[in-house]
Parts: sequence; C-alpha cells; structure tokens
Amino acid sequence: MKKFATYLLIAACILPLTSMTVSAAGGANVEHSGVNINDKASLQRGAKLYVNYCLGCHAIAYMRYNRLSEDLGLSEEMVMENLVFSDAKFGETMDIAMDAEQAKAWFGKAPPDLSLVGRSRGADWIYSYLLGFYKDESGGWNNTHLPNASMPNVLWSLQGIQTPIYRQETSAGGFTQDVIDHFKITSPGTQSPEEFKLTARDIAAFLDYAGEPAKLKRKGVGVWVILFLAFFTFIAYLLKAEYWRDVH
Ligand code: HEC
Repeated sequence: MKKFATYLLIAACILPLTSMTVSAAGGANVEHSGVNINDKASLQRGAKLYVNYCLGCHAIAYMRYNRLSEDLGLSEEMVMENLVFSDAKFGETMDIAMDAEQAKAWFGKAPPDLSLVGRSRGADWIYSYLLGFYKDESGGWNNTHLPNASMPNVLWSLQGIQTPIYRQETSAGGFTQDVIDHFKITSPGTQSPEEFKLTARDIAAFLDYAGEPAKLKRKGVGVWVILFLAFFTFIAYLLKAEYWRDVH
C-alpha cells in the first residue's frame, strides 16, 4: 500500500511537467504578454486588428474564415462584414492579393506567411516585437527583437513614435558600446501605452490561436482526460485490493 502511494505521488509530480510548453524562440528581454487564448473577446479583437493592419502583407494560409467563425463564436454575417475585405468567400483561406516578388522588391524581403509564427516564435515574442518598433538615427524604423527588420511599424498611428534613450555598457573585455536603456514616446499615438499593450496582446493572442486552433479544444479535453485517469486509477486500485485479498 505504501509503495502504491509512492507511485501515485511520483505520477502526480511528473504529470504537470509533460504539459509544459517550451517556446522555440527565446531571446533576451521578451516581455510577458499575458495572452489567454480562451478569452474569446481578446481573440475577436485580435482577428479584427489583424485583418485591418496585417493581412495586407501577411497571409495566414492555413486558416479559413469559416473556422474563425466557429472558433471565435461569430456568425457568418459578422465574419463577412467585419473580417473579409477582399473578394474571398466564407470557406476560403486568409490569403493576400500581394505578389510575393513585388513585395520583395518593395520591402527587401517578402512578408512571411504567419500561419505558424505563434508556434515558431511564441506569443510573448510577437508581443515584444510589436512593442519594439522605434525610429533609429537614420530616421527609419528599427526593432529591438528583429534588428533592421524590413517591416515598418504599421501600428504607429496607435502607438505613436518612440525613440530610444541609450546608456553606455562596458563589456568584461573593456569594450564600451551604446545599448538601448528605454524608449521615450516622441510623438504620441491615439492609444496610451497601456492601451497599446492590450492591442499588441490581442494580436499576439490571435496569432497564437491561429498557429494551433486545436489548442482551444485540446486544453478543454485535457481536463476530462486527467479526471478520467484519476477515476481509472481509483478503479484499478479497488481491483488490485480485490485480487490481493485472497492472497494475503
Ligand atoms: C507593409 C507590409 C507589412 C505589414 C502591413 C505587416 N508586416 Fe509584418 N513583416 C513584413 C516584412 C517585410 C517582414 C520581414 C521582416 C524581416 O525579416 O526583416 C515582416 C515580419 C513580421 C514578423 C516576423 C516573422 C518572423 O518570424 O521573422 C512578424 C511576427 C510580423 N511581421 C507580424 C506582423 C503583424 C502582427 C502585423 C500587423 C500588426 C504586420 N506584421 C504587418 C511586412 C509587413
């Protein structure tokens, strides 16, 4: 009986570890986004922001509009009215009209499809990336998480324009260099910094969901699986007790 209790304890300790997710891309200073993909309102806002500010350049070719409608609890009319600005049909994927070759000529690099960016980069990275655009000395856009990114800050009218305040840092080897200490908003946008953080969070949440729509269901099913396992362990224990009763 003691042994059985020990096994149970070990199992209880190991189980949560197996469900821990590891983000593929780490990097310094990735901020915690607070993304919650079970928050439908946040996903709905994220989808709307995405089609308004991002879909012009970035397709999500693995996502269909009718799937969005199902997962985000929106009717077909709501989706067609608020989320579809092209001639795409309800059952079609979230493609873009822009030609990849032309885009490459314009931006120096074709904007990638973002179907899987939620999985490759992780929600916190996307969030930090969206907060990390600034104007550098050249007067062009730069980004703390993707230095010299060829993407302009498409959300600047909301965020405003931020410029970096540098501080000097000396390495162990005696080299001194300027590093960004913090940002100063030099031209305010229509949102406050707090509001803009929520905007970035909602977009990151939407991309996190789009990277693995099944996550919504998987997490729900997970609870029932654990409950079933706990119940089954109990039955197995009763069975064991029954078998061993005659042996003792
Ligand atoms: C004007 C076109 C354009 C728009 C609009 C745009 N992007 Fe981009 N985006 C790019 C380009 C070009 C790159 C490639 C940057 C690079 O690698 O230098 C990029 C890169 C990215 C990446 C990095 C992908 C990776 O893994 O390297 C993310 C994430 C991203 N964009 C998200 C967004 C989001 C979210 C929006 C909407 C808020 C958006 N983009 C709007 C052009 C655009």
